[in-house]
Amino acid sequence: TLKGVAFDLDGVLTDTARAHYRAWKKLADSLGIPFDEERNEALKGVDRMGSLALILGDRPAYDLTERQRLAARKNDWYLEEIAHFGPADLFPGARAALEQCRAAGLGIALASASRNAPLLIARMQVADLFDAVIDPASLAAGKPAPDIFLAAAAVLGVHPAAMLGVEDAPAGVQAIHAAGMKALGVGTRAALPDADWIIPAIRDFDLAAYSA
Ligand code: BG6
Ligand code: MG
Repeated sequence: TLKGVAFDLDGVLTDTARAHYRAWKKLADSLGIPFDEERNEALKGVDRMGSLALILGDRPAYDLTERQRLAARKNDWYLEEIAHFGPADLFPGARAALEQCRAAGLGIALASASRNAPLLIARMQVADLFDAVIDPASLAAGKPAPDIFLAAAAVLGVHPAAMLGVEDAPAGVQAIHAAGMKALGVGTRAALPDADWIIPAIRDFDLAAYSA
C-alpha cells in the first residue's frame, strides 16, 4: 500500500518549466547557440550546471569559471521570471492534490532539482503541506539518478516500494524507477512512455487510482 508521495515541482505543481525554458533560451540566444523547445525537453528535471552542459555541448570555449558565470546569468533571468509568483501561479488542482495526500495520511516530500524550490513553495504558500523538502545540493547525482527520490523515501521513513513519484520529465520518471518507486507522469504518453500512469495535468490527480 502507498505510504508516501514525492512530487517534482517545475512543470508538475506550477508552470516554471516555461520560465526555465525562457531563461535558457535567452542565454542560448546571447551566445548564438541554437536552442528551441524540442531541445529543451532533454533539460527538464536536469540540474542547473547539467542543463548548461547540454546547451553548450562540446564547445571548448567555456571553462568552469565561465560556465558558472553563464549559469548565474541564467538564474538571474529565471528569478526575474518568478519574481511575482504567488498562490495564483500554482497549476489548478495542485493544492488539492497535496491535500488529497495529506487527508490520506501519506508522507509528502518535494523532490525538485531546483535550488529555487524552497523560495517557490513559500511564495505559492504550499510549503506547510510538505513533510520534507529535499535539498538538491546535498546529493551526489541529479536526475536521472535515483538519489533525490531515495532521499525522499529515507526522510519520510517509507520504503521506496511504498512510494509514488510524480514527474513531468523523462529524466524524472527514470529517476523514480531507478529508486524502485511507481511513477505518475504528468503530460503526454508520447513524452513519458515509461510512466506507470499518465495524467494530462495535476488537476487530474486521483490518489485512489495509484493506491492499488
Ligand atoms: C528542475 C527543472 O526542476 O530544476 C530544470 O526541471 C532546472 O529545468 C532544475 O534546470 C534546476 O533548477 P535551478 O532553479 O536550481 O536552476
Ligand atoms: Mg519537472
